[in-house]
Amino acid sequence: MVKRAIDSRSTGLSRKDGASNLIAVLVVHGPNLNLLGEREPEVYGRTRLNDIDKELKQLGRELEMKVETFQSNSEGAIVDRIQKARGKADVLLLNPGAYTHTSVAIRDAILAVDIQVIEVHLSNVYRRETFRHHSTIADVAHGRIMGFGAESYSLALRAARTLIESSRRRSD
Ligand code: DQA
Repeated sequence: MVKRAIDSRSTGLSRKDGASNLIAVLVVHGPNLNLLGEREPEVYGRTRLNDIDKELKQLGRELEMKVETFQSNSEGAIVDRIQKARGKADVLLLNPGAYTHTSVAIRDAILAVDIQVIEVHLSNVYRRETFRHHSTIADVAHGRIMGFGAESYSLALRAARTLIESSRRRSD
């Protein structure tokens, strides 16, 4: 009994689990985002990643969404986490950091799992160096939210709710 309870907790997200109709959201932050608050604050702001995650979980509770968060500096770990969310998450809020501009592996992982993606950036990449203007995932994401600092994530969470609710209504 106890073991099963622990198991289900550690499996984390579950899409439309049982009686609960909570929308399961996975938030993935890419490389260097663990340093938010200290890293180039004039570009990324002073809010720490931990505070962004806490706020998303709180907002998730208000919006009846189950929010799980993950950060890694490693491309492979991000691919693994996206694969693990297959069949469990309804929507992925993804800020791939610098991998946005280079990663075919993360793009392929998105195509391999049936999960809607919202691409998130703190900064408006189009106001920055031209190498940041290209995204390998933009055309496989449902949409992109950028340029609002930490608020980009909460805007994305609200957009995710609308997106999943309307796709659930269509499939009813
Ligand atoms: C970023 C933009 C990327 O170009 C950069 O490499 C990051 C953060 C953003 O959130 O603004 O690490 O994804």
